[in-house]
Amino acid sequence: MDKAQTLIAANRGPISFRTAEDGSLEYSRGGGGLVSGMTSVAAEVDSLWVCAALSDDDRRAAAEAPGARIDRVHDLGGMRVHMLDIPERTFAGAYTGIANSTLWFLQHLLYDLPNKPVFGSGFARLWEDYAAYNNAFAEALVSGAAEGARVAVQDYHLALVPQILRSRRPDLRITHFSHTPWAPPEYLRMLPNRVARELLEGMLGADRLGFHSPRWAEAFLRCCSEILGADVDIDRRTVEHGGRVVTVGVHALGADEEGLRTSAAEPEVAQRRGALSQLVGDTRLIVRVDRTELSKNIVRGLESYRELLTLHPEWRGRVTHLAFAYPSRGDVPEYREYTETVLRMAEEINEEFSTPEWTPLVLEVNDDYPRSLASFQLADVLLVNPVRDGMNLVAKEGPLLSERDSVLVLSREAGAADELGEDALLVNPFDTVETAEALHQALSMPDRERRERRERLAEAAVALPPRRWFQEQIRSLG
Ligand code: G6P
Repeated sequence: MDKAQTLIAANRGPISFRTAEDGSLEYSRGGGGLVSGMTSVAAEVDSLWVCAALSDDDRRAAAEAPGARIDRVHDLGGMRVHMLDIPERTFAGAYTGIANSTLWFLQHLLYDLPNKPVFGSGFARLWEDYAAYNNAFAEALVSGAAEGARVAVQDYHLALVPQILRSRRPDLRITHFSHTPWAPPEYLRMLPNRVARELLEGMLGADRLGFHSPRWAEAFLRCCSEILGADVDIDRRTVEHGGRVVTVGVHALGADEEGLRTSAAEPEVAQRRGALSQLVGDTRLIVRVDRTELSKNIVRGLESYRELLTLHPEWRGRVTHLAFAYPSRGDVPEYREYTETVLRMAEEINEEFSTPEWTPLVLEVNDDYPRSLASFQLADVLLVNPVRDGMNLVAKEGPLLSERDSVLVLSREAGAADELGEDALLVNPFDTVETAEALHQALSMPDRERRERRERLAEAAVALPPRRWFQEQIRSLG
């Protein structure tokens, strides 16, 4: 097996396995900007994606793959995939304990501070799991990379990988990209001191670091200055630490228009669209599509809809809110509780406002991508109100597929607000009255203004498509 020239490392891989009826394993390709960005350059370079096995079927596939030199390799177009079978306990500590219950909470400012976080003795063991998991990725990259290869490490799961790689393979050129926001130093400092330092120094093992928004890049630089005492230049976005200079770049990922339109042309989308049209009749449509995720602020979004129906009763019977939530991270207790709160709140709203002819809110917690695309096509208003979000691609995909010139009501705390802020209606995600008023303004907006705003949003959404987003980072390595 040839060693790869371009490598990507991300917890979630580009494919996932399932057991077919005859007992054999089959795989399907995942969605998302990273997959389309990487797949589109795969044909040009010898590339390898290192990821973790995430399900029992993935684990079986990882264990059964014929032992090539890099074992457990599966073909995907021109790209190879190395799926790591990480021991379940280690994976749970790293993914659920550190990545999703600690780092995600920190970067999105989700902690309920009077009670959490608590960094007790159990935390040290989780941090060891995280280090072991990062080591497993680094090991696979070390053995899969050609001399001088370029390695693109993704996200908060793999913050320690750049430093490990640098110490073992100084010939490699390494970039790390954070898809989350970055927390201010006063927040990051809540971590045990040694852990905060290891996290920052782990990332600084890269030659270049990337973020979606200048806001997150600046917060990272401030953390390096205040927590590590590094020599930081905020304007030039450089960090000098341990005798090396690391540059920080902003690359705002755009929507994958081609992929999106191909998916939207599938017959299932037309079918869902028909069913949705029937469901909502001639009412106006407010749509939201998210993972069932604490940072997405679904509860305050529903509360804002309740405020709309209270403050502007003229919309009763004339509007329907479709809220589609994908199940997410069920291993984290806070996510399970959050899902229950969302479901309960939806019931309350329907009990309060429903009439025999009108159901104000339809909330579904399940996986149905074609239905999400159909809802983008039909929406009059798209609500994207996260408390904090690295980017948020729904805000970019919605305007591309909209057939009714949907108005975007967007949280100012999403990375996407940097680029879409002029033409979306920006809101403070904590202010449910302001959000309700923005929904009202969106529903009442004259057609021409809706059209002009939607056209500009669609243009801004594809400013940096996934392929170019990925190439920019690889090229920045020289
Ligand atoms: C965010 C993160 C990604 C992650 C995705 C889904 O977008 O930045 O790294 O893959 O959420 O989360 P999951 O835990 O299901 O992979």
